[in-house]
Amino acid sequence: MAYTIKLLEGIEIKGIRLRNRISMPAMHVHFSKDGFVNDKYIEYYRKRAEGEVGLIFVGVCNVDPFFEGMGGMLQLCDDKYIDGMKKLTDVVHEYGARIILQITARYLGFKGDASLFPYEHIDGMIKSIETGARRAYRAGFDGVELIGSGGSSLSAFMSKTNPRTDEYGGSFENRMRFAERSVKAAREGISDKILSFRMHGHEFLEGGYELKEAREIAVLLEKWGVDIINITGGGHTTKVPQITHFVPPAGYAFLARNIKDVVNIPVIASNRFQDPILADMYIIKGWADMVNFARALHADPYLPRKLREGNYEDIVPCIACSQGCFDRIVEMNPILCLVNPFSGREDEIKMEKAKEPKKVVVLGGGPAGLECARIASLRGHKVILYEKEKFIGGNFLLASRIPEKEEFLRFIQWEKRQLEKSGVEIKIDTEATVEKIKMEKPDVVVVATGTKPSIPPVKGIDRKNVFLATDVLKGKVSVGENVVIIGGGATGCEVAHYIAKIDSLAPEVIHFLEHHGYLKRDEILPFWKRREVTVLEMLPRIGEGIGRSTRWNILMELRRLGVKVVTDAKVKEIKENEVIYEVNGEEKSVKTDTVLLATGVKPNSEIYEVMKKNFKEVYLIGDAKKPGDAMNAVHEGAEAGLKI
Ligand SMILES: Cc1cc2nc3c(=O)[nH]c(=O)nc-3n(C[C@H](O)[C@H](O)[C@H](O)COP(=O)(O)OP(=O)(O)OC[C@H]3O[C@@H](n4cnc5c(N)ncnc54)[C@H](O)[C@@H]3O)c2cc1C
Ligand SMILES: Cc1cc2nc3c(=O)[nH]c(=O)nc-3n(C[C@H](O)[C@H](O)[C@H](O)COP(=O)(O)O)c2cc1C
Ligand code: SF4
Repeated sequence: MAYTIKLLEGIEIKGIRLRNRISMPAMHVHFSKDGFVNDKYIEYYRKRAEGEVGLIFVGVCNVDPFFEGMGGMLQLCDDKYIDGMKKLTDVVHEYGARIILQITARYLGFKGDASLFPYEHIDGMIKSIETGARRAYRAGFDGVELIGSGGSSLSAFMSKTNPRTDEYGGSFENRMRFAERSVKAAREGISDKILSFRMHGHEFLEGGYELKEAREIAVLLEKWGVDIINITGGGHTTKVPQITHFVPPAGYAFLARNIKDVVNIPVIASNRFQDPILADMYIIKGWADMVNFARALHADPYLPRKLREGNYEDIVPCIACSQGCFDRIVEMNPILCLVNPFSGREDEIKMEKAKEPKKVVVLGGGPAGLECARIASLRGHKVILYEKEKFIGGNFLLASRIPEKEEFLRFIQWEKRQLEKSGVEIKIDTEATVEKIKMEKPDVVVVATGTKPSIPPVKGIDRKNVFLATDVLKGKVSVGENVVIIGGGATGCEVAHYIAKIDSLAPEVIHFLEHHGYLKRDEILPFWKRREVTVLEMLPRIGEGIGRSTRWNILMELRRLGVKVVTDAKVKEIKENEVIYEVNGEEKSVKTDTVLLATGVKPNSEIYEVMKKNFKEVYLIGDAKKPGDAMNAVHEGAEAGLKI
């Protein structure tokens, strides 16, 4: 019998047929500052609909006039916004997808609680939900979704931490009053179309509601007339990671599964579904009726179509880095994507065949060189890529060795497959020199040779127990029991994390041994604590350069693993068994047998000057141009690939 993918089977909700069970949940994309739908929105969602997603949730969209113009959010608090929304729903429908608008009356974001909403404003907020839903109906949406999660007003009212003392706070019934009124108002406005409700399956907050109460809420929502329950994890203020790579794939699916037990309407599971085959298992097991792919569909709008056509391996893998998406919206910037430089730029850049096919030689097989080679080759150029190491991937390969970042490797593997498919000649273990490149007789040379370490002039830095932090990841160094890392930027913190976890058991091993009765909890500890790791950072804080969504996760891990961190520390000297440093003018020392340098990098670009003298069209991209991150490298690679 043929293998069927249940995720691709259609589903009917309130008489509306969805072509599959793949939904793209609401993502605030920050594409317009004035709250109107613009071309960026249209082209972005056109691609997703064309890629065969079943259901798109757009938003979050404010419907309360009191909150007009806030936070770069989409708006539907006035009739003037309807026309733009109508264009959006028309485009999505044209490609066979369904579209629901996620609405809120005001939004708190990361700060504040339900006490911020004056009692006398509440009737107006409820009225705005009804009017907003009515406008959504007129704009052609297949339904609306009330956001009862994240930093929304609804979630603030529903939260068990709601501090109000009036009829909208205190008892369960009171905390649900705003939700009940909102559901009824939204139903009035949206008439017979779909009414979805997004909620936490657990608040994961001190004093917040847990799964048991979430189940009670879900039962009420169904009773009040909700058609879909869209389950996410905890909110913006929880200290449990929700979307970063620290969260195991499908880590919160159990919440949907437990809600599904108590309702008879479709339930959507969410968070950390990057892989559609994994998601399919959750549909097959009956844990959910549909699965949300937020970032995965941001990374590859054609995910559903590729899955249907059997091209699973060609799906651009979202690596859950959040660098291009979540980290950018917290800085109020439109979203982009690390692995897909076209995402979020659908209205700006297009890939077209080159007018004149050229011979292109790319120097360096890190993210910049790989992406440049891929695009140039797809455009019809003949591409040869030189990589001096035995493996492609550059520093990103090292990044994938950091605990919980193993998924980063999927991007390198995907690039490799794409290069092979498009006929790029990859010469590994081959250092590019000007003589070799001259023999190739290229029309174009792209220099993507990355970085080299920047070594500070510290006394004793040339001792034989001093190494580069990245050499640990390369397997060139075995660390001792007292490790000092000089430099607490991104690399220093991540290598500290790696070392602190070297001896720990993998969670699956712990589970396996416990399951068979051969490991007690208190036996695990000695595996965790084998080394003393100290990070010395001269700035007042560590982890600069790590995205906002991920930084606190890493710092929390370092604390948990007992890594010592000293900030404002100026290293004076490395001695045989200790490092001398100064904090606020006071000299201190730390015992060590291994010193690791994470003191920054500089461009490895000398070869660029040589190439410029020998060839007419030469590009310098990625870290070789200016040390940055992989997103910058991939984007510069794509831009060069499009220019050639
Ligand atoms: C531990 C660690 C964790 C990181 N984590 C992240 C992260 O989470 N997110 C993020 O965005 N970035 C991260 N980075 C940074 C990211 O890996 C780099 O910014 C990115 O790899 C730069 O890409 P690139 O292609 O410009 O250079 P590189 O990745 O450095 O690639 C350059 C390539 O050129 C090759 N090369 C050099 N000279 C020659 C030559 N003469 N001939 C042939 N080949 C040559 C090198 O061997 C190398 O493979 C991390 C880096 C490290 C070390
Ligand atoms: C950039 C970004 C913006 C988001 N905005 C919203 C939003 O407006 N409303 C909402 O309910 N969830 C929002 N989310 C959460 C996503 O809908 C989704 O639950 C989360 O990304 C986890 O799913 P994923 O692992 O499939 O990405 C946002 C997530 C990201 C990355
Ligand atoms: S930026 Fe990172 S997390 Fe966001 S969609 Fe792209 S790969 Fe996924």
